[in-house]
Amino acid sequence: MDGNGRWAKKRHLPRAMGHQRGAEAVRKLVRALPGSGLDVLTLYAFSSENWKRPEDEVDDLMALMKRFLKSDLKDLIANGIRLKIIGDYKALSPDLVEQLDQALAHTAQGRAGTLAVALNYGSQQEIARAAAAAAAEGAVTVEAIERHLDTADLPPLDLLIRTSGEIRLSNFLLWQAAYAEMWFTDVLWPDFTPAHLEDALASFAGRERRYGGR
Ligand code: IPE
Ligand code: MG
Repeated sequence: MDGNGRWAKKRHLPRAMGHQRGAEAVRKLVRALPGSGLDVLTLYAFSSENWKRPEDEVDDLMALMKRFLKSDLKDLIANGIRLKIIGDYKALSPDLVEQLDQALAHTAQGRAGTLAVALNYGSQQEIARAAAAAAAEGAVTVEAIERHLDTADLPPLDLLIRTSGEIRLSNFLLWQAAYAEMWFTDVLWPDFTPAHLEDALASFAGRERRYGGR
C-alpha cells in the first residue's frame, strides 16, 4: 500500500492525512472482499524497515491501526472476515498486541474471506525464521520452510499488486512471490478502489501460468 505520503503532498496536506485516507481505501476494499472472488487479501501495512521513519510518523501509523481495529472490528465480524497477522507483531506496543490478539480471536470463525495484515513484517526475516525452525526439526527443505512461514495456512500467492508507480517488492512476500503474477499501477494507495482491484483481477484472469512448464 504505497503512495500515502505523495497523495498528501500533492494536496498540501500532512502525511498523516494521507495515511488516514489510505486506511479509508482499506476499509472499502475489505467491505468488497466477500464479493470479490478473493479468498485472501494480504495488505502490507508496516514493514520491519518502516521503523526508520520519524518517530511521530511511526506513532501516527500505530495510532491509525488502533483506531481502525476499534472502528472496523464489528464490520469484519459481521462480514465473516477472518483476520490474520503476518510478521513479528508481538514486538509492537503491548496495548496494540492485546488489541490485535482480541481481534484475531473474535474473527477466527470468519468464513467469507481472510484479511491478512503484514505488521512489522519483513520477508527476509520471515524466511530466516522459517529456515531456522526447519533446521531445528532436522531438514531444511522447501516444504519444511513453507510449513514455518507466517503464511503457512494461506493458499499460494496468486497476484501481487504494488501501487504508486514503484517497481519493486521491498521485502514483501519474496518467497511466496516465486510464481505470483505481478500488477504495478501508478495509482496512489488512497486512490485505490475496489474497481482498481477488479482491473488487476481481470488482467490476472487473462494470464497463462506455466510454473516453469510449457
Ligand atoms: C505507504 O505510503 C504507507 C506505509 C508505509 C505504511 P508511504 O508513506 O510510503 O507514501 P509515499 O511513498 O511517501 O508516497
Ligand atoms: Mg512509500
